[in-house]
Amino acid sequence: MDPQEMRSQVERQLERGRQAFSDAASIDELEAAQSTILGRKSPLGDVQRALGTVDDVEERKRLGRVVNEARTALAEAAASRRAELDAEAEDALVSADRVDLSLPGRRPRVGSLHPFPLIEYEIVDIFTRMGYRVVEGPEVEDSWHNFDALNIPPDHPARTSMDTTFVDVPGHPDLVLRTHTSPMQIRTLESQEPPVHVVVPGRVYRNEEITARNMPVFHQVEGLVVDEGITFADLKGTLETFFRELLGEERRIRLSPSFFPFVEPGAQVDVSCFVCDGAGCRTCSFSGWLELMGSGMVHPVVLENCGIDPERYTGFAFGGGYDRLAMIRFGIPDIRLLWDSDVRFLEQFEVLS
Ligand code: PHE
Repeated sequence: MDPQEMRSQVERQLERGRQAFSDAASIDELEAAQSTILGRKSPLGDVQRALGTVDDVEERKRLGRVVNEARTALAEAAASRRAELDAEAEDALVSADRVDLSLPGRRPRVGSLHPFPLIEYEIVDIFTRMGYRVVEGPEVEDSWHNFDALNIPPDHPARTSMDTTFVDVPGHPDLVLRTHTSPMQIRTLESQEPPVHVVVPGRVYRNEEITARNMPVFHQVEGLVVDEGITFADLKGTLETFFRELLGEERRIRLSPSFFPFVEPGAQVDVSCFVCDGAGCRTCSFSGWLELMGSGMVHPVVLENCGIDPERYTGFAFGGGYDRLAMIRFGIPDIRLLWDSDVRFLEQFEVLS
């Protein structure tokens, strides 16, 4: 190769290289072009090796500079193309998850509490402040806890009056859906020594017809206190405090004799109507009173059934449904609305904060 040829080869490679680099559509293509144009086996490499054959020292130096300048220029061209390709790749990444700040926001949907838990939390809050423990129990019960231990023997009319729903599980002939929360009196006394102060909210089941005021599943809250020296006055004071807290300062309660096999004496608990304040209205069937609970002193047989000495300990228990309270409190005319899961209905209640 004579110097003339070497010069024109460098010119050609310079032009060819610039073109190839700017044509490269990706980093891979760019790197391939770099090795073709600038690599050891490239035409430019040939020129460089041929430099040694140039005898004229000055001419050799000049040619060397020409080759070096070409290399530098090509390296710069490759570097600037690489910078362009990097920037393009970054843009693509950013636009893939670009945020459009002008779009309207998506409003988070805020849940609301169902009237049942709303009332339940109010009730258990009051008892918690009085020092009670909140416990829950199984909705599928055995007849020992739902009936026998509560002094309700198999032939007792209370069994049929409760419209029991039986649960058919092979090998377990005595399972029922609990007809009241009172079986938790037994479970609590079986597992805990006095002093006992518990409240038990939960679902109970009675095979009744569905109407505007009745469902075969509803909610009760049970209360149980067992200790030394507990009297009927404690029961009455507790119920008075509770209903005053729940329904307002002016509430009066009335206890009248009633029968439940697991208490003695037993009493029905009426509260002066908090809609008409006792004057008489549709809610209280014009009696001025709402019948809200059953109650009484825990029957000695119940204590004995749980291994507790009735000579030493006494106690009281109360229990009643609170679905009617929710209906009155929230002005709900038909109990079925509370089971329909219609969001338009449910959204109207207290929003969770
Ligand atoms: N378990 C009774 C019922 O469902 C209510 C009750 C509870 C009565 C506790 C007395 C004591 O009707």
